[in-house]
Amino acid sequence: MATISFASDHAGYELKKHLMEHAVALGFEVKDFGTYSEESCDYPDFAHPAALAVENGDCDFGIAMCGTGNGIQMTLNKHQGIRAALCWQPELAALAKEHNNANFLVLPARFIPQDLAVKIMDTYLNSKFEGGRHQRRIDKIAVK
Ligand code: RB5
Repeated sequence: MATISFASDHAGYELKKHLMEHAVALGFEVKDFGTYSEESCDYPDFAHPAALAVENGDCDFGIAMCGTGNGIQMTLNKHQGIRAALCWQPELAALAKEHNNANFLVLPARFIPQDLAVKIMDTYLNSKFEGGRHQRRIDKIAVK
C-alpha cells in the first residue's frame, strides 16, 4: 500500500489528524511531518520536509493543509518535483489527479468541514491520471 506524506500548520492540525486516521483505516502508510499541536507555527517548516519525502521517493504522494491552503501550497510548489493542488470540492480533486497528476492534495482547513475534506480526499485517492495530452502538459511545468 502507498505511503502518504502529511503536513500542516496549526490551523490544519486537527484536520490532518482526522485525515491521517482515515488514511490508516483505508490501509495506507502515513508519515507525519508535523506540526504536532495547535501552537502557532510556520507552515514552510513542515511543508518542505513533506515535499522532499515525495521527491526522494520515501512517500508516494502527499496531503497537506493550512488555514487557507494557500501558504502551504505555495511552499510545496517551490519544489520542482511537486505538483500541489488546492481543492475545496471533490470535482477539483478528481481533475487535479486526472489532468494534473497532482502529487499533493492541499486543503483549506478553515474553509471546509471535516466530512467534506474526507470526501475530497477519497475522490483524490480514487481518481486516475489520464496521461496523453495531460502528460505532455505536465512535462512542461518544471523549471529546468
Ligand atoms: C495561519 O494563521 C494562516 O495564515 C495559515 O494557516 C495559512 O492560511 C496561510 O496561508
